[in-house]
Amino acid sequence: MSRFWVEKIAGLEPYVPGEQPASDTLIKLNTNEHALPPADAVLTAVRDITGDQLRRYPDPTAERLRSAIAAAESVSPAQVYVGNGSDEVLAHLWFAFLKGQRVQTLDTTYGFYPVWAALYDVDLTEVPVLDDFSVDLEALKNDDAAVVLANPNAPTGRALPRDEIVALVESNRDRLVVVDEAYFGFGAETAVPLVAGHDNLVVTRSLSKSHGLAGLRVGYAIAQAELIEGLNRVKNSFNSYPLDAVAQSAATAAIEDMQWLEAASQSVRDVREVMSAGLEAMGFEVLPSQANFIFIQHNTLPGKHIFDALRSRDILVRRWDKQRIKNWLRVSVGTMAQAEQLLVVMREIVSAETG
Ligand SMILES: Cc1ncc(COP(=O)(O)O)c(C=O)c1O
Repeated sequence: MSRFWVEKIAGLEPYVPGEQPASDTLIKLNTNEHALPPADAVLTAVRDITGDQLRRYPDPTAERLRSAIAAAESVSPAQVYVGNGSDEVLAHLWFAFLKGQRVQTLDTTYGFYPVWAALYDVDLTEVPVLDDFSVDLEALKNDDAAVVLANPNAPTGRALPRDEIVALVESNRDRLVVVDEAYFGFGAETAVPLVAGHDNLVVTRSLSKSHGLAGLRVGYAIAQAELIEGLNRVKNSFNSYPLDAVAQSAATAAIEDMQWLEAASQSVRDVREVMSAGLEAMGFEVLPSQANFIFIQHNTLPGKHIFDALRSRDILVRRWDKQRIKNWLRVSVGTMAQAEQLLVVMREIVSAETG
């Protein structure tokens, strides 16, 4: 605390990201990074960067990348906004469209939403999820406040089908609905095809999970051009170059390699299946997941006990002290070898306690 801090900064409770330990020996299943490294084309694009590209400022409009995303998503480049990770896209979006307003999210969802709400003086309602952690769609529809919804949701992994997103977006066309698809590509239906017919919808995406590029920091939003223009106004009042030349080139290569996306996503779904079945056989409840992580609770052992026992055996997962989910663990889907190791260790932990 310094006496130079403005009052707002002193009152902030910033987001705390998952631990990034330096150790290589840990099995790191705590921040939902993709189990696989990105496509070869991405690494080639990074290697092919020239000195001249680094000498100059990058394209402030990220034209090539936005065109690649537009082509992949069947929208126009004017409907695409790119930023430094979807966190930055979302931060600008809260500033551009939600600042000072009433907004609904869920009581069990991405922990950054309340941080932005506080930063931008938003009156936030956290609508409780139902007992099975599914979204209380009726509650969201019955309130006219804007909605920010992660789909699939984190940390639950549950996803709403597109027709339920349609019902939400159309329940009141005068309020904005933001669908955060950070976990796109692992099985959930996307809301992007709804953008053409709905000027009150923004869909955000991340390359961090789907494309194995958490280290590159690229995210994007798809919405009608007037909304995208609003985001550009914020960006150009903050930092004209959120994506450097390396990120623009590598992300373009990633988006264009659709075969990699398909194969890598399938491998995540396969491992997710093995992890889920193995854990269920040991007495875990495993929520149905459409993401690259699973949300689990043991029928007798406390979450904290399992978390600590895994940690002492070099396996890192994520848990929260929040009352409603304090017994639950969020476990990222790793490689098949990591999943097998997790199951071996988990069997030891469970049988040590339950016999
Ligand atoms: C629901 C959700 N949205 C957005 C993000 C931010 O992703 P990134 O900034 O890496 O694109 C995350 C990251 O964990 C997330 O879980």
